[in-house]
Amino acid sequence: MCGIVGYVGGDQVSPVLLEALRKLEYRGYDSAGIAVVGEKEKLQVRKIKGRLSNLELLVSQQPVQGTCGIGHTRWATHGEPSDINSHPHTDVSAKIAVVHNGIIENHASLRLWLEKHHVVFRSQTDSEVIAHLVDFHYNGDLLLAVRETVKRLQGSYAIAVICEDFPGMLVVARKDSPLVIGRADSYTMIASDVPPLLCHTREVQYLEDLELALLTKDEVTIYNLEGEVQQREVFHVDWDIEAAEKCGYEHFMLKEIFEQPKALHDTLFSRINEGKIALNPKIQEALSHCDHLLITGCGTAYHAGMVAKYVIEHFAKVRVEVDVASELRYRTPLCKAGDVAILISQSGETADTIASLRLLKSLGVVTIALTNVVGSTISREADLVMYTQAGPEIAVASTKALTTQLMCLYVIALVMTKTEPGLLLEHLMQLPEQAQLLLDKQEDIQRFAARQFNKDKVFFMGRLTDYAISMESALKLKEISYTHSESFAAGELKHGPIALVDQSTLVVAMCTQPALFAKMDSNIKEVKARGATALVITFDTVHDFDTTADEVFRIPTTEPYFSPILTVIVSQLYAYYCSVLKGNDPDKPRNLAKSVTVE
Ligand code: G6P
Repeated sequence: MCGIVGYVGGDQVSPVLLEALRKLEYRGYDSAGIAVVGEKEKLQVRKIKGRLSNLELLVSQQPVQGTCGIGHTRWATHGEPSDINSHPHTDVSAKIAVVHNGIIENHASLRLWLEKHHVVFRSQTDSEVIAHLVDFHYNGDLLLAVRETVKRLQGSYAIAVICEDFPGMLVVARKDSPLVIGRADSYTMIASDVPPLLCHTREVQYLEDLELALLTKDEVTIYNLEGEVQQREVFHVDWDIEAAEKCGYEHFMLKEIFEQPKALHDTLFSRINEGKIALNPKIQEALSHCDHLLITGCGTAYHAGMVAKYVIEHFAKVRVEVDVASELRYRTPLCKAGDVAILISQSGETADTIASLRLLKSLGVVTIALTNVVGSTISREADLVMYTQAGPEIAVASTKALTTQLMCLYVIALVMTKTEPGLLLEHLMQLPEQAQLLLDKQEDIQRFAARQFNKDKVFFMGRLTDYAISMESALKLKEISYTHSESFAAGELKHGPIALVDQSTLVVAMCTQPALFAKMDSNIKEVKARGATALVITFDTVHDFDTTADEVFRIPTTEPYFSPILTVIVSQLYAYYCSVLKGNDPDKPRNLAKSVTVE
């Protein structure tokens, strides 16, 4: 998704903007640009298709001067990736520049209207209308012009605007797209996400929907659309800078896979007091009366919910409904006031999950956000919030966010179970160490990937929680290695998928449900009989598959319903090494974005 940044302060702004854009690269982009104003200089725009290095080269050849500016990484939606379609966009006289993240749904009618007022458009983007509208409403008051502009916009936007008449001023606005303001002593910054701000400040403020802010180097003033000043809490972000750096790892994804033991430890042990689970009492209270739990999220977060359904229904005997947020928001969920919903989102900014949250709240459902980002939209809007302690997740393919979400959901399951968790809690407490033991064997997975990465098709199958985590495993592999991969409930194999199995197929069988080992063994024999290669992932004490499988990868033994935290680490590493072996960049998979803030 597009990323926006902005800075107003005392330093030359172009290196600050380029550095900040680097930190947003992970969101996915196909062009980049900056616009700068100086005390003496007019508005200067540099923008170009392709990687950020193209922009850096352009800026080194044609430097810009000034201490106030905006920057953008574009992920094309309206109009192909090109220099012209890149942001910032300017008005006709090129004195106002705008960067935008989101989608302006009424851009076509606004464009027609502006063309009738003799505006000549340069790009095919929806965003360019914003620059012309600001110009149309501008009579010397930039804040007012932006305010009048956003009143006419439908859709989603986070925008930042500069004007050459005000070399020390930045105006920003948002609706349904994230925008974070960073506050420091002698400068202010904005960004789509926290990482670009980290090396400057930890004090952040969030704009709410339909608000604007006027930023100078010393002050931030937030307004609503009526022009009334709004007070806003300042959040302190405690992520350290190293957490958002590669620290010697070749890729963020690999670093984040290896951070899981610590992230799991922090997430669990921050909720244990004197050997007992201690959640926010309001969450505990909501869960203890719940007889219908809804869980929703997108992508990996949805898969965490799928695992939780099996776990909570098994241990707590409470009905759990799980749905992808893009479906939930448009269907008719049958829920009653007092039901509880868990909204899972690493970023806390996913558009469909936010829409589902708002729908569920309007139906009287008690909403609990399960997110990684303090102060994110979902955390602010939900009734209650539970944070994963994963630290910043930069790689597009989610890893440590998922396993920490699972850890929180396991804790929730134990709280809902109402009996003394005893042994189950002990199993949970061992998981961080067991994750480390597994990572210590990463070379085995690397070797297996080296032998199998060219397989045309990879099927993941399992039963119960093994099936749920198979979905995530297949997603991980397709996201970064571009291998056709699917997941199946192993019992469904005979109802269709087996027709696709041949010598070019790798079948990964997740086998951690002892009561179903015999069933899984039959399924493995069925695929082997059709020429497939079979990898089994099971516990280190299990030998039931030694003669059936081509290869067995063993994970430390835990409670079977908790195994997804460990089995998925195997799939993450397998996907990572397949991606690298195929020559892909696992941190920047094609066509994907880290944070999907538009529909
Ligand atoms: C995108 C990302 C996925 C992520 C999903 C949900 O598709 O590429 O990795 O699982 O969004 O994101 P969220 O921030 O809501 O967990």
